[in-house]
Amino acid sequence: MDWQDLPNAPLPGTCLCRLEEIADGGARMLDLGEGNEAFRLIILRSGEQVHAYLNRCAHFGVPLAQRPEHLIFTPHESLRCNVHYARYHWQSGHCITGECAGEHLISLPLTIQDGNILVAGT
Ligand code: FES
Repeated sequence: MDWQDLPNAPLPGTCLCRLEEIADGGARMLDLGEGNEAFRLIILRSGEQVHAYLNRCAHFGVPLAQRPEHLIFTPHESLRCNVHYARYHWQSGHCITGECAGEHLISLPLTIQDGNILVAGT
């Protein structure tokens, strides 16, 4: 799946949020658009590094979590799906354990400029 083809996919240069809005070792869910057409993201921060993944499990294609308070993660290490608990590597998005081991989350390229987290050009 190519994330650029999804409804409400952000264009390169789109500011997603400020780095300071995500705690070090924290995660932020972000929905661009509404309802079924929403482009759903999870942004993870580890120090000055950030990673963004589609909020879409590689197993059944459902959200890893529907609400921020349901997101299961171990800071700087991994995050898990709420449904069957597949575990994904924080930095790479690869599934470490679970039904979809060996597959991976879909990542978006990011860059940080002046403290803003932007979608990078591909
Ligand atoms: S749907 Fe995510 S682990 Fe099964």
